[in-house]
This record gives sequence, C-alpha cells and structure tokens, in this order.
Amino acid sequence: MDFVNQVIQGDCETVLENFPDNSVDLIFTSPPYADQRKNTYGGIKPDDYVDWFLPKTKEFFRVLKPTGTFILNIKERVVNGERHTYVIELILKMKEQGWLWTEEFMWHKRNSYPGKWPNRFRDSWERLIQFNKHKKFNMYQEAVMIPVGDWAQDRLANLSDTDKIRDESKVGSGFGKNISNWVGRKKVYPSNVIHMATECNNKNHSAAFPLNLPTWFIKLFTKPGDIVLDPFIGSGTTAVAAIELDRKFVGIDVSEEYCQLSRERLSGVQLQLLTINSKKGTYNNNGNTQSG
Ligand SMILES: C[S@@+](CC[C@H](N)C(=O)[O-])C[C@H]1O[C@@H](n2cnc3c(N)ncnc32)[C@H](O)[C@@H]1O
Repeated sequence: MDFVNQVIQGDCETVLENFPDNSVDLIFTSPPYADQRKNTYGGIKPDDYVDWFLPKTKEFFRVLKPTGTFILNIKERVVNGERHTYVIELILKMKEQGWLWTEEFMWHKRNSYPGKWPNRFRDSWERLIQFNKHKKFNMYQEAVMIPVGDWAQDRLANLSDTDKIRDESKVGSGFGKNISNWVGRKKVYPSNVIHMATECNNKNHSAAFPLNLPTWFIKLFTKPGDIVLDPFIGSGTTAVAAIELDRKFVGIDVSEEYCQLSRERLSGVQLQLLTINSKKGTYNNNGNTQSG
C-alpha cells in the first residue's frame, strides 16, 4: 500500500478518503485542541469542535481494522470558568457512529508547572480515550508489564489466610483478588494511569507529546510490522515511536511545514537505526530494523 511509511500533507478527512477500508491497526493521535492554539495552526471554537471532528472519526472508523484500536489524546478546556463539554459530547456522538468507548487512560504529567488559579488547581493530566470497533481487539498486555515494585517484598512475605484464597469484593462489584498469585513474580500489569513527564526538548512544535506516550500504546495494541496511523502527526512523534518499534507508520498533517519537519526527523531516526542495526547485523531488506 503506497501510503505506508509516508507523511502526507492535507486535511486528514480528505486524505483518508483515498485509503482502503480496514487498513490500519492503530490510530494514535492528539488533534488540535479547541481554540487553544489559534495562533499556531488554527483553532476550532469549542462549540464547533464536535461538528468539526465527527466527519474525521467517521473516516477513522472506516480505515481501522476490526481488531484495531483508536486512542484519542484530548482534554476539555475551560471556557467562561467551567470545563466545556465537547469531549463528552464527542464520545456520545462517536458511539452513534458505531464506536465502542472501551476504556479511558489518564496521562498524569509528572512535571507540570505549579501555579495559582482562583478557582482551580493546576491541570496535570490529560485523557487518552480508547475506542474500538468490536469488543475483541488486539491487545498485548505483556508488552507493557512493569517491575512489581518494593511493596511486594514486605506485603508478599507476610500473607494472611485471606491472601491465599480469592478474596471477593466486599462491595459486591464482582471483582476479587488472590494476592498469593503474585508471589515470586518480577512483573505486574500496569494500571490505566500513566505517569510520564512532558518533554520540552521538541522546540519545533508547540504541542508535541512525549515519545514514551505513543511508544506505550503502540506496544500495547500492535505487533511488529503493524500499521500505526497518526492523522494529526505534527512533529512526527508517533511515527518515530512506530519506527523504533519496527512498526509501519502513516502520518498526515494539514501543515506543509510540519510535514517537512516530520519527514526530516523521521529520516534522521531511520538513519540512526540503520547505523545501529547494520553494526549489529539486524537490518532487514524492507528497510525496517528488527527489534525484540
Ligand atoms: C496537537 S498537534 C499534534 C502534535 C503531535 N502529536 C506531536 O507530537 O508533534 C495537532 C496537529 O494537527 C494538525 N492539523 C490541524 N488540523 C488538521 C487537519 N484537518 N488534518 C490534518 N492535520 C491537522 C496541526 O497542523 C498540528 O500539527
């Protein structure tokens, strides 16, 4: 497919019209936020946001494979002293389009700047909303396991009788746990709160997210060789993560300047990986490098 491993300039809605149905494995993106950055790449008024976005999510739905996932990084802004409802409205409208609102992850920005506001505290988290076409989708949970942590040494060394059986929830939620299952394990599954610092070293784009963010989701929802689409690619961060993980990418941005910026960044990354892997002898004929 000739759109693979390319950054394409244009409105993603129009560009995607030329893509076949069911052709990408993961859509990971951070769209322009409502009105927020109107001085850089054109803002959309909060009240118009849902109408602006819905035709795009319709195309995303068509091009996503039935086993695929769409992760939307977004946050509602404050308008006239209260949070605007465009994200909530968008979710409801997307459900009407056929999307399942499977899950919501929270990105806790570990290094957000302190500040003082009269009626709220500093905003130090963003949503990553997970949408799917079907209840069964590809998910590789082992790929994002984390070290069990120091708590385990003490907690698992002193197990009570209850810890050794499945302890059903006391509030009748149907959830239960058997703590003893974790004895001897070095890794556990993470939660849906992701603690990651923002990155300030990408000076060429005002709204770039940290590389670790797409990396985490690409590992979780794709395998090597899969196709990752970012329809608002900006400085190319999602594509960098995809290349480093031996996935294929497709990037789209309405701004020619950002497309050029992405392409330059990506050729740098590709060259770097080629050099590293040719030294290790792991370069393959597709121009992709092989990672573990
Ligand atoms: C929040 S930024 C993405 C930043 C990106 N995640 C990064 O790490 O650099 C949103 C991007 O969407 C682009 N954009 C705005 N409207 C668009 C449209 N209709 N189609 C494609 N790209 C668009 C903007 O030019 C901007 O680069």
